[in-house]
Amino acid sequence: VCRANLPTPALVLDLDRLEANLDRMAEHVRACGKSLRPHAKTHKCPEIARRQVARGAIGISVATVAEAEAMVAAGLPGVLLTSPIVDQPKIDRMVTLKARGGDVLLAVGHPFEADRLDEAAGAAGVTLDILLDLDVGDRRTGVPVGKPALALARRLAEARHLRLIGVQAYSGLSSHVVGHDDRRRHSHQTLAPAVDLLDQLRRWGLDARILSVASTGTYDIDAELPGVTELQCGSYVFLDQDYQRIGSRRGDRFADFTPSLTVLATVINAQPGLDWVLVDAGIKAFATDVAALPEVVGRPDLLYKRRGDEFGQLFPAQPGAPLPEIGDRLEFTIPHCDPTVNLYDRIHAVRGDRVEAVWPITARREFPPLTS
Ligand SMILES: Cc1ncc(COP(=O)(O)O)c(C=O)c1O
Repeated sequence: VCRANLPTPALVLDLDRLEANLDRMAEHVRACGKSLRPHAKTHKCPEIARRQVARGAIGISVATVAEAEAMVAAGLPGVLLTSPIVDQPKIDRMVTLKARGGDVLLAVGHPFEADRLDEAAGAAGVTLDILLDLDVGDRRTGVPVGKPALALARRLAEARHLRLIGVQAYSGLSSHVVGHDDRRRHSHQTLAPAVDLLDQLRRWGLDARILSVASTGTYDIDAELPGVTELQCGSYVFLDQDYQRIGSRRGDRFADFTPSLTVLATVINAQPGLDWVLVDAGIKAFATDVAALPEVVGRPDLLYKRRGDEFGQLFPAQPGAPLPEIGDRLEFTIPHCDPTVNLYDRIHAVRGDRVEAVWPITARREFPPLTS
């Protein structure tokens, strides 16, 4: 199969670029003496997770129970659920994964979840490995720093069927701070209480061996902190537009990794005399949560505008720029990768013009898939 025959809109992954990104991050953590448990919320794809583990990742982070199930079914180790779960069916599914030999651990930020997990684990005769999820400022998941965190730590340490082995501290607010110095200051300041908490747990005599942190934006920043043991970076595999604007140690553009994922689309209307053409990639082809719009790869002289669920319009950036013709196929950059991947069933893995593989985005839906 070649790229030219793919039905559009299609998600296309450049394998050379993907592999370069995977190698780069693997080398980075090796050089820093840290571990990598990359986040699969970005790709939801066991084929990519396997390649991360083959390059030395100690496990895979996941955001949903379905992702955990898909990664365990694919034989992946060290699957860390980074989001809270409180409803009983999800608690039971995680315990079942463990009871069946799955190598899973969970980040827990509330005593309610701790108690439910403890009870379900006891009933199933298993012990669950737990990281305390510390809210270091995102005001999203996790327990607040200070007394609440210490109280939860005690509760987790005393739970009979849970084993507290460390701390998770994810600072989403640090990830996209523009400018490397500002981002570094923000992240180091934000993570200080997590480093202190890990020390405290060790002083209590607990085997607190994990401090799991970081995003792609702080991959080189958080690795500088001695207390940090592992990084949870996700987006580096695809590197979307939103990340490129944050700047790096080396300059205004974050070019430490290379954009590897695009959406392939076809020009489906181009009338003579008009100053626009229509492509078959609209709101259903690109997530619309960030301000940036898709750009045509290799054609900075064209501007994209969303024109509804299925359509996008292309205009000349300057009057007179030549427009594509009907039937032309164009590749678009992706403003925000995670929610865009979540719109597709498969990733077309290409090398040059050749489609080398089609990878299911397995963890996008319930796993195992619902049958009628
Ligand atoms: C808990 C957690 N860890 C790690 C990541 C990875 O961040 P990024 O995709 O920016 O590398 C995310 C992303 O939202 C996350 O929510």
